[in-house]
Amino acid sequence: MKHSTSNVRAFTVRPRLVLGIETSCDETGAAVLDETGIILGESLHSQKQTHLDMGGIIPPVAQRLHKENIYRVVQEALDRSGIEPNELTAVATTVKPGLSLSLGIGLDFSLKFVRLHEKPFIPIHHMEAHALTVRMLHPVDFPFLVLLVSGGHTLLALAKGIDEFLLLGQTLDVAAGDSLDKIARRLSLRNHPECSTLSGGQAIELLGKEGDRRAFHFKTPMGQIYDCNFSFAGLQNQVTMAIKKKEKEEGVETGQLLSCVKDIAAASQHTIASHIAKRTHRAILFCKSKGLLPQHNPTLVVSGGVACNEYIRQTLKIVTDATGLHLLCPPSKLCTDNGVMIAWNGIERLKQGKGIMSHTEEVKYEPKAPLGLDITSEVNDAAIKVPPLKLRINS
Ligand code: KG4
Ligand code: ZN
Repeated sequence: MKHSTSNVRAFTVRPRLVLGIETSCDETGAAVLDETGIILGESLHSQKQTHLDMGGIIPPVAQRLHKENIYRVVQEALDRSGIEPNELTAVATTVKPGLSLSLGIGLDFSLKFVRLHEKPFIPIHHMEAHALTVRMLHPVDFPFLVLLVSGGHTLLALAKGIDEFLLLGQTLDVAAGDSLDKIARRLSLRNHPECSTLSGGQAIELLGKEGDRRAFHFKTPMGQIYDCNFSFAGLQNQVTMAIKKKEKEEGVETGQLLSCVKDIAAASQHTIASHIAKRTHRAILFCKSKGLLPQHNPTLVVSGGVACNEYIRQTLKIVTDATGLHLLCPPSKLCTDNGVMIAWNGIERLKQGKGIMSHTEEVKYEPKAPLGLDITSEVNDAAIKVPPLKLRINS
């Protein structure tokens, strides 16, 4: 008798299902995941080509494109999953940080959806979602160190729990991806036959493979500041000056390609990689000195669009090998913005019963939202000197 009751119960316990929705920047993404991390259906509309054509992200254009695509993208993810809205356990949507106009479209859509289908709502922090995506694929326990490098953010944090982070350092000006995009634009890489559809970072990586990074010397930023913050504006300036000088020498006008684009791409990429590596190295040493990382299998997770860059990954591997950390990067399609990472963050929250809302009247989006507790001044006070490492990459 007992046996059959538990069998009936096991049969009726259905896996929890979350629909995730992402519109914080220039990708409209949606996905349906089950609680084990299996992707049942997903859809993604990238606005990359439009923004490439326009020379950067123009928020009202991003907003219009999200508006035009969100219904189709969500419907596609649901159709592909074979799940009806009434079968969902909850809906998770990015509400911070990001572009106001873009966040607003995802949130409006989601609130109408959850009210119509009477589902709980889980508001998601975009950077927390990037940081935890890796747990969908690998059983990484807290705490672990995380480096997020994207077009909008560059930061180092210690992940202590699904909603508990210590911020060790962040960019003081532009993000790494933004500076790669701007350098690519200044080099007119869109006019290069192999780069017309690539993002700035992808174009620099591709061309850098055939370039000589030693043909140009750019100074690694913040060499005398012993913290884990980042700065890319000065480097961008150095690269622009070098480009201007070469344009003059070669009699090349803006929009035309310099003969040395590959060398400039290789040198810029190397300097960015080495800046990121040095700050990350210091963050590892800081965490070790404070006993913040576990003895067993301490891990560095790298995510965000720039984490797709193989040269940067290899540079970071030199750092983790030297310090005894395990390096994990989600596959490229999960490093850039997508609905899957938002749904997964919803699952993580659902499992721990954190941030699940049945009343949504108060929910608002927040364009600016820090990640966790800011301990950057503690890192600065520690002023850890990083031993030199040979960052020699075979590209
Ligand atoms: O995470 P993401 O899709 O969007 C933001 O939240 O910003 O990252 C986009 C950024 C862009 O700046 C793009 O140039 C950069 O990631 N990126 C790369 C690569 N692929 C994308 N940067 C360097 N190397 C790549 N392979
Ligand atoms: Zn992102």
